[in-house]
Amino acid sequence: MAAELTAFRGTILYFRDDPGVASPADSHVHIEDGLLVIENGHVARVGPAEPLLAALPKGTPVTDHRGMLLMPGFIDAHVHYAQTDVIASGGGTLLNWLEQHIFPEEARFAEHAHASEVADFFLDELLRHGTTTALVFGSVHRTSADAFFEAAARRGMRLGAGQVMMDRHCPEALRDTAESSHRDARELIERWDGNGRLHYAITPRFAVTSSDEQLRLAGELARAHPNAFIHSHVAENTDEVAWVAKLFPGARSYLDVYERFGLLRERAIYAHCIHLDAADRRRMAETGAAAAFCPTSNLFLGSGLFDIEATDAAGMRFALATDVGGGTSFSLLQTMQDAYKVAQQKGQTLTALRAFYLATLGGARALRLDDRIGSFEPGREADFIVLDPAATPLMERRMRSARTLEERLFAWMILGDERSVRQAYVMGKLASTSASAAARSA
Ligand code: GUN
Ligand code: ZN
Repeated sequence: MAAELTAFRGTILYFRDDPGVASPADSHVHIEDGLLVIENGHVARVGPAEPLLAALPKGTPVTDHRGMLLMPGFIDAHVHYAQTDVIASGGGTLLNWLEQHIFPEEARFAEHAHASEVADFFLDELLRHGTTTALVFGSVHRTSADAFFEAAARRGMRLGAGQVMMDRHCPEALRDTAESSHRDARELIERWDGNGRLHYAITPRFAVTSSDEQLRLAGELARAHPNAFIHSHVAENTDEVAWVAKLFPGARSYLDVYERFGLLRERAIYAHCIHLDAADRRRMAETGAAAAFCPTSNLFLGSGLFDIEATDAAGMRFALATDVGGGTSFSLLQTMQDAYKVAQQKGQTLTALRAFYLATLGGARALRLDDRIGSFEPGREADFIVLDPAATPLMERRMRSARTLEERLFAWMILGDERSVRQAYVMGKLASTSASAAARSA
């Protein structure tokens, strides 16, 4: 088969390292007039436009995005597709919010047709917001995972997802058993993990809703399938932390519950990680587990403020995540904005450069997918987005005086949302075009 070559011209940005840790100047590649050359869905070359254009075989299609920023697609390290329809359900904090809004909604996912319809909407919504990879919670129903993976396979996106495990402290209609959850996950791993661009995530909801036996079997499964993700919540809310201490009196901490059952390792992603202590953070770092920082959710549910400095001091990996429906937006740009505000509240610093790193290469590193996605190094899968600096009249005005890359990224972080995302490409193919772009070209 002849190689399929295409190229995209625009301002290029991608990261090579964490600007919060490495020298910011060495952390990224920024080419004002750049070309991204894609061969069979993968990055072939990236560099200054003029010489690369001259070297392209005659007839290679070149899409002109000059004036726009081309960067790797956003990565959402923790989100619930089964909560799409209850985003913006207010009142209360974590535990009563779950009871009031979330559990009744998730009960609807027993039905395949419903799960399938929501999965299609959810994935299109991710793409519209520039998110090309996510780690996703389903519901406790097996069909919620099958419907999601079917929808994901139709789009060719790199995604992780799993059927939720929960065998206590939840409504009867949402309760599995330790054995059924283990059997379902084992079969789903066989069917979906490594199938195309899909990954299975072993997904105990949180320590509150799993018996010892369910967590033990989840740990066994995680040992047998080291390439599968482990995906759960930890230390989000103080009432939750106190409840876990009562339920597991032998554990040193909430995080230690998971460690005792073999659930701390690389490819284990824990949402929130707010109320951790120094020993917990050290164990996260030593085991290679990673945190998903979910600022819009943490502020919405009043859960607390993620501590970036303590996370860095421990050498922990962390990524950004929306946590919709606790989170209030699918947009990683809006998520960066709230992450910035959380850092401000803590008296800490989050630069725009680092926020964009966290939403791309940082997310890929947390998920251990950085050999495939998250940057434009040659050979990476060509999932990328086109960011518009003038998506709204206000942004257009603000960008006029934003001279440096850092200033422009800062304006996108604080003022941007899905209107800033003109296009999303999956494996080099156009997957989504924004309404604003469509309106402009009409
Ligand atoms: N902890 C357990 N389940 C959930 C959930 O659905 N959302 C959030 N934010 N936290 C949780
Ligand atoms: Zn969550």
